[in-house]
Amino acid sequence: MVCKLYLVFIFSFVHLICHSSQQETGFVYNGFDQADLFIDGLTRILPDGLLQLTNATEFQMGHAFFKQPFDFDPSSTLSFYTHFVCALVPPTFGVDSGHGIAFVVSPSTDLSYEEQAQFLGVFSNETSSSSSHLLAIELDSVYSVGVDKLENPHVGIDVYSPKSIESALPSYFSSVLGKNESINLLSGEPIQVWVDYDGSLLNVSLAPMEVQKPNLPLMSTAINLSEIFQEKMYVGFSAATAKLTSNQYILGWSFSRSKELLQTLDLSKLPQAPPVPRKEKQKKQVPLVFIVLVILLVVLVLMVLGGAYWYRRNKYAEVREPWEKEYGPHRFSYKSLYKATNGFCKDGRVGKGGFGEVYKGTLPLSRHIAVKRLSHDAEQGMKQFVAEVITMGNLEHRNLVPLLGYCRRKGELLLVSEYMPNGSLDQYLFHGQNPSPTWLQRIFILKDIASALSYLHTGTKQVVLHRDIKSSNVMLDSEFNGRLGDFGMAKFHDHGANLSATAAVGTIGYMAPELITMGTSTKTDVYAFGVFVLEVTCGRRPVELVLPIEKQSLVKWVCECWKQASLLETRDPRLGRDFSSKEVEMVLKLGLLCTNAMPESRPAMGQVVQYLNRDLPMPKFSPSTPGIGAFMPVSMQASSAIGVSILRNSSVSLFVSHTILDGHGR
Ligand SMILES: *[C@@H]1O[C@H](CO)[C@@H](O)[C@H](O)[C@H]1NC(C)=O
Ligand SMILES: *[C@@H]1O[C@H](CO)[C@@H](O)[C@H](O)[C@H]1NC(C)=O
Ligand SMILES: *[C@@H]1O[C@H](CO)[C@@H](O)[C@H](O)[C@H]1NC(C)=O
Ligand SMILES: *[C@@H]1O[C@H](CO)[C@@H](O)[C@H](O)[C@H]1NC(C)=O
Ligand SMILES: *[C@@H]1O[C@H](CO)[C@@H](O)[C@H](O)[C@H]1NC(C)=O
Repeated sequence: MVCKLYLVFIFSFVHLICHSSQQETGFVYNGFDQADLFIDGLTRILPDGLLQLTNATEFQMGHAFFKQPFDFDPSSTLSFYTHFVCALVPPTFGVDSGHGIAFVVSPSTDLSYEEQAQFLGVFSNETSSSSSHLLAIELDSVYSVGVDKLENPHVGIDVYSPKSIESALPSYFSSVLGKNESINLLSGEPIQVWVDYDGSLLNVSLAPMEVQKPNLPLMSTAINLSEIFQEKMYVGFSAATAKLTSNQYILGWSFSRSKELLQTLDLSKLPQAPPVPRKEKQKKQVPLVFIVLVILLVVLVLMVLGGAYWYRRNKYAEVREPWEKEYGPHRFSYKSLYKATNGFCKDGRVGKGGFGEVYKGTLPLSRHIAVKRLSHDAEQGMKQFVAEVITMGNLEHRNLVPLLGYCRRKGELLLVSEYMPNGSLDQYLFHGQNPSPTWLQRIFILKDIASALSYLHTGTKQVVLHRDIKSSNVMLDSEFNGRLGDFGMAKFHDHGANLSATAAVGTIGYMAPELITMGTSTKTDVYAFGVFVLEVTCGRRPVELVLPIEKQSLVKWVCECWKQASLLETRDPRLGRDFSSKEVEMVLKLGLLCTNAMPESRPAMGQVVQYLNRDLPMPKFSPSTPGIGAFMPVSMQASSAIGVSILRNSSVSLFVSHTILDGHGR
């Protein structure tokens, strides 16, 4: 019995010895599922064996201590060795998180009085005496104002107070690379930490999982812990969160009082820290913002593209109708004209008339063209007008300005003709800055125009009326030959009205008296030619209201002068002396003959050509012959504005005349 009791005693004694010796040599936890720990606060041991010091709850802390204290008798050596693996997992990827963890050697497991956030749940504050026996190795992931020397996440050795006695940026010396490699505390990756104290030097080393313990510690501090430690000290961890939070884990932990007995952690057996969650909440927000931005961008781009397209479309838009098909070869694209005239730039403008502007342009192959832009708002009659224009484009005579084609746009008609480098005759007759044409040039031009007009009236299958002969419609080519341009334009002139009903249109001063009542005919062209002849010879416009009343009408004045036997006085003074008086007189008389108030008394253009060439003598007539030098009822006293208003009056437009009269009127 005694023996039995003795055995029991022995057994329990041995057990006691064993127990205490186990306590002294330390422990190892490859995962904490079997661990016997004291925990408080947020700290949990998760089913998979993770020791979660804190989850991502704000302003909380948690502690975990090995349940048995260790004996740090100052008489013996105070050395201890520990190796643990921790992971600080931010609540979401890429956000600031905190606050960190600390390995603590503390006289008490109760640190609940401490300030949670800044001091990792270890120290109450800088001056508190209750924490004076503490040693903490902190992995501080945030900068605590006024406490830390280093602003970045750092590793520190704290004694008494949260003010580290030594701190360093987390890194390890890689003997392979021969340099320090930094460690991101907040990567969420597990980090190995070693704390070695041999009684005088406290070494702290860090390394990532895949790296062996570095040869050189991160920090090595001489410290006499006998002045700090009490006899019984607990070892464990403390962690805290504040506004910034982290899921903070210990994966495995080995501790020993002696270097030799420190058991190695089996890193392959450690539980896995959960990965850093990708921005769950923001994933939904950011893409929304992103999608909205992308949509806005796409819409913007589409709008810009659409705008550009619309702009281009509009810029080059044309009006095409089925009936125009037959004029295909004469049709120019607006784009080509736009390019040829450099976008109808002002520099290329060579003329500006009452009903349009003329631009110089260059087609590919350096073909020079003149583009006349006529604004029109009447679609009515356009077909006929274009037909006529095209027909006239087919006319070929050396004294006609060749019409090359046309283009139609909304409210706009563009006529393309050959470019006449010397401009129009009126610029030489009436503008002092240009050289005055000599008599020889003038007579040649008169012959040119007479010949062109004769061709229009009789040289083609159909009778073509010009309707608007005047010096500004006589163009000069590079050899100073006169060329008749702008046929049929007069019709277009009164673009507001029905084109076919505006036959009685021309230019004030050139309009035959019968024009309003009888409409246009070859004879009205002859009348206008007569005025033009006088204009060229006298160097003045047919109607000049600024002159004394007897001189206002050119026709009347020339006739009066003839009556007073001073016909030659009416000649252009700029002619100088280099002219033949006989020829000038003949031409003046021809002008009067052509402007006879009675249409039937006017010569035909063919005859006019013959008179000019002296192939045929002019009929005898005097200034008192009826109809010669008659006043012009259409325009004599009418300002052009009144003239136009008369012409727009529908009662005037009853007399419809066609420009092209089949055989009739020859
Ligand atoms: C954190 O842990 C505490 C205690 O276990 C729990 O009440 C809380 O819901 C957890 N919070 C989060 C965000 O997981
Ligand atoms: C430190 O704590 C004491 C009481 O524990 C308190 O009076 C003092 O204000 C605290 N100091 C700081 C800086 O928080
Ligand atoms: C590595 O870091 C340690 C501790 O911070 C320092 O003493 C050492 O000079 C560094 N070595 C190199 C190569 O930067
Ligand atoms: C601490 O590190 C130094 C080298 O920096 C080394 O000589 C010493 O033995 C180390 N002490 C411990 C306890 O590991
Ligand atoms: C540490 O301090 C204690 C008491 O202050 C002293 O007895 C001991 O010799 C010191 N140890 C070392 C290694 O300096």
